[in-house]
Amino acid sequence: MEILRTTSAMQKWSLNRKRVGQRIGLVPTMGYLHQGHMSLVQLAHERTEVVVASIFVNPIQFLPGEDLAHYPRDFERDERLCREAGVTAVFYPTPEEIYAADHSVYVDETLLSKGLCGRQRPGHFRGVATVVAKLFNLVLPDVAVFGQKDAQQSRIIQRLVRDLNFPVEIVVGPIVREPDGLAMSSRNRYLSAQERQHALSLHRALEQAEDLYRRGCRDVPVIREALEACLSVESAVKIEFIELVDNSTLEPVTTMGGAVLIALAARVGSTRLIDNIVLGA
Ligand code: PAF
Repeated sequence: MEILRTTSAMQKWSLNRKRVGQRIGLVPTMGYLHQGHMSLVQLAHERTEVVVASIFVNPIQFLPGEDLAHYPRDFERDERLCREAGVTAVFYPTPEEIYAADHSVYVDETLLSKGLCGRQRPGHFRGVATVVAKLFNLVLPDVAVFGQKDAQQSRIIQRLVRDLNFPVEIVVGPIVREPDGLAMSSRNRYLSAQERQHALSLHRALEQAEDLYRRGCRDVPVIREALEACLSVESAVKIEFIELVDNSTLEPVTTMGGAVLIALAARVGSTRLIDNIVLGA
């Protein structure tokens, strides 16, 4: 497995792979890898001859006061996991390598990024879209794999590819959960044992919504109330939003027709957690 640290080495590597007819799969990550990431690597392997995992904690997608400085990092462990998963190359640049000191061009998706997490984190998706566009230009992937856990991010990347004509197929991998149902996330490591128990209420709430839906309930306010009641059982869980939106436009829905994304965000202690489910897909 190769480790590439510069933009020029990365681009050269990818051009050489393309020259010999190999298709490139990209799994963009911020490191501190877990089984959720590794499942995305697996999806890339199934589609392409070579797989690149990028590990880059992207400073411009963190807002002032967010956890950039404390974001968990463990490159040695990440490297080992990538090797075990058969990753062909790891792209591991520094922030200075990615952003010139006078960097002044950004990619701004202006519709899908306004609601849900974008409301609480203005500028976050501009940072994500910008770095992903840069990664596409550096890694030149045929396929890029993102996780459904960040559902809004995945939709924005699909829109980025469509609207800027990137020749990249976007694959969205399902949420991978711990045995107790907690959606895997690098940020779970911030949770104390007790907070982790409280955090389970996100998944429980989604299960309850799914159960109501399966039993025939199509009433948005009833489903929303059930979610709210379930999340409110733990006073330690501070709800940021409960949203029922169209799965492709991310517009709020008033009826449960078509594919509906139920997206939750909540704080448990100082940790912000998100989770979601798609019903009616
Ligand atoms: O999902 C993430 O880890 C990040 O937002 C991404 C896509 C790697 C961009 O920094």
